[in-house]
Formats: sequence, structure tokens, C-alpha cells
Amino acid sequence: MDYLEIEGGYRLNGEVTISGAKNAALPIIAATILSDKAVVLKNLPNVVDIRTLLKLLAMLGAKVEHSDTEAKIDCSSITSTKAVYEIVAQMRASILVLGPLLGRFKHCEVSLPGGCAIGQRPIDLHIKAVEALGAEVSLEHGYVVAKAKNGLKGNKIIFDKITVGGTENAVMAAAMAEGVTEIVNAAKEPEVVQLCEMLDMGGAKIEGIGSSRLKIHGTNGKPLEFKEPIEIIPDRIEAGTYLCVGAITKSEITLKNVNTEHIQTSIEKLESMGCSFNIKKDEITIFPAKELESVNIVTAEYPGFPTDMQAQFMAVATLANKESLIEERLFENRFMHVSELNRLGADIWLKGNVAAVRPVKELIGAEVMATDLRASSALVIAALAAKGVTKIRRIYHLDRGYDRLEEKLSKIGAKVVRKKS
Ligand code: EPZ
Repeated sequence: MDYLEIEGGYRLNGEVTISGAKNAALPIIAATILSDKAVVLKNLPNVVDIRTLLKLLAMLGAKVEHSDTEAKIDCSSITSTKAVYEIVAQMRASILVLGPLLGRFKHCEVSLPGGCAIGQRPIDLHIKAVEALGAEVSLEHGYVVAKAKNGLKGNKIIFDKITVGGTENAVMAAAMAEGVTEIVNAAKEPEVVQLCEMLDMGGAKIEGIGSSRLKIHGTNGKPLEFKEPIEIIPDRIEAGTYLCVGAITKSEITLKNVNTEHIQTSIEKLESMGCSFNIKKDEITIFPAKELESVNIVTAEYPGFPTDMQAQFMAVATLANKESLIEERLFENRFMHVSELNRLGADIWLKGNVAAVRPVKELIGAEVMATDLRASSALVIAALAAKGVTKIRRIYHLDRGYDRLEEKLSKIGAKVVRKKS
């Protein structure tokens, strides 16, 4: 199995080009199911999760051409509406095919995702949303079986809790429904916004894009049409991760192809830790702090501090001058990185969903294990600052969401190699 060997303690310098956002690309790939014509996607990140979803679409019968950052997906040839366990178990985001399959074909079967390293992650809100649009849903042999014999009908969907994937499935299901669907307490993440803009362009008119109240005018069974290629937005979490690399290694790093508006909370937190920035339209340079200040973080839905940046900031906070407090409010178990960071010499204490990160003078290389995508990137960040060599095992988690990580890090001077054991 591959592992990463990182020799830490070096200053880095240079430019990193940020890839397209995995979490924007996934629902957009799922949304191509709503069309019976070919759709071209550009600026896709070259990561395993994207390939997994494309494989699922191909298994459903879609014609998929994929090369590095581009894909042409033609869902006119779909013959199956069953998302099998083999794929869904590899990637929970496969649940995103529920809304579009049901919307276009009036039935589908999607395997229940099963366990997850960062928390329970139920899909009850996805199911309630499609039920509100008239689907009959049952659970059969580990599969969510959804049927809408006469097609989905627009209705009001009120989410008890803000859910990114739930909102995405709801808008995709509503896109080809009859009549108007209103979504209350919708997620406002940039990835949800791009999906809504795509559907709006494709023929399902959407009001309130970017707000918590969306109104979707369904096409009444008419497939959507995406004439122009869709360019995936830059990955705000990848960008935030490289800013954390700059902060912890005390390096000046410039990020290209970023949307700086999407990373405001990360910028503000790093400023409060003593870093400064030069911000241009789609470019940002971080200037490291002389001494890293402590930071207090509470994760929240967008535009709040992203849960997907919690682990990376925790890594940076280990070397701050005072104790930092980090509270995780979205996922109950998203602290798997704590014990691994402590193996690198960090001093982090957990109580419930709050981590107290006590300052240490230095981190020291060790063997650690990646547990989920963002936890893994926190280990990379810590390893880059740690004295000596760190070996990070189970890096298939990193490969799911970070495009050419070693290449990008090596280009700015990091000593990172991928090895096989
Ligand atoms: C998306 O997951 C992202 N994944 C996650 O990124 C991200 O951490 C998360 O949103 C929050 O920002 C993708 O976009 C593919 P949610 P999602 O539904 O949609 C609860 C990464 O590292 N909930 O917004 O699954 C849920 O348990 C990944 O790239 C229900 O209770 O997240 C959680 O507590 C990891 N019932 C909260 O809502 C449901 O039916 C928010 O989850 C659905 C969700």
C-alpha cells in the first residue's frame, strides 16, 4: 500500500495552482443525468472520488469520456437506475444520483451508504425531500428504493437541519418535476450555488440562488440541456489547506486559480493568527506570522467556518503561542486526527466536541495513519513542520480529494515522496 514520506522543517516558497472543487464537481456530474444530451465538464480535479462517480454513471449506461481535467458525459443511453453497493460503499456522495435518477426516470435504487469515519451521516433528509415531491420510498435489502409513478410534483421542502447533499438532491429532483418546489433552510455553500446555476442554465429556472430559500420551477418532464461546457469552481478546501501549509511552515506561498471570496473565513482566522495576505482577483499570497497566535474556531455551515478545514487548522494551532479551542458542530466524530497529531508531538485534549490545542515548541516526525480525507491533510500539514521524517499510511484517503498533492508540494520545495510498503 502507498504511503507518504515527508521530511519536515523546511521553508517552502512558490506557487500552487488550485484545482477544481471535488464537492462542486460531484453533484454536477450527478446532474448530467438530468440531460439526454452530452454535457462537457471542465476544470475537474483529477481525484479518485471523481473517477468513482464517473464509473457509477458508466455502470448506469452513460457514455463517459474522461481525461485528466475534462469529461464528456452523455446520459442519453442510461439503461439502469440502480446505484450498486460496490460503488456507494466506496463513496457516500454516490447518494447524489438519487434526486436526478428519480427526477428523470421516475424510479431508482440506491444502496445505503453504510458507516463513515467522521460520524453517522444519515440520509433521512434526502429521503424526506424526495418524499415531499411525491416519491414513494422504501428500504429493501440495503437499498433505498424510490418510485414516482406519475413523476415528481413540486412542493415545499423544509429542512430541519442544513444539509449540503440533501439540498443538492432536492434541487436536482425538483428540476424535472411538475410545478414549483420551494426549499426552506437550504444550504448556501458555493458548491450548491454552482449546481443551482447549472440547473438554471439547463432549463429549470431557480430563484433565490445563494440564499437559504430556493424556488425551483421544474421542467415538467423535459430533460435539461447544457449547451456550454461547465467549468468547475476552484476548490476552496484545497486552497485553505495550502494556506495552512504556508502558515505552519512559515512560508510565502501564492495560490493561483482561487475564489478568494469562498475562503474568507480561512483568511480571517489565519489573519487572527498573525498571517497576512496579498489578495488579487483569483490569486492570493500568504505571508507567514512572526509568531503564530492561538485561534478559536467553531465549525458552521457556509458562510461560517467549514468543518472541512477544522483538522487543518488544528494542525496549525499545535504550534501557536497559546491554547486554541476548536469546536466541531457538524459531525460528531470528526476528531480522528487528534490522536495522530499527538503522535507527532502535539498536545491536544478532547472533551465531547471541543478540542483544546495546547501549544508545543515543536512537532517531531513519526509514523501516523490517515483516517479520512481532511484528517489526512492535517497530518501532511503537521508533517511539513515536524522535525525529521513522518510516514503517513493509508493515503488512499488523500487521493480521494487532493489533486496531485505530492507534485504540488514538491514544486514549492517540500520533501515529499510516495512510497510502497
Ligand atoms: C458535504 O457532505 C461535503 N461532501 C462534506 O465534505 C462536508 O463536510 C459537508 O457537506 C459539510 O459541509 C460533499 O459535498 C460531497 P451535510 P454532506 O448533509 O452533504 C446531517 C469532504 O471532506 N445530515 O451537509 O454529506 C449530517 O450527518 C467531505 O470533502 C442528517 O442528519 O453533509 C451532518 O451532521 C466530508 N441527515 C449535517 O447534517 C441527512 O439526511 C451536515 O451534513 C443529511 C445530513
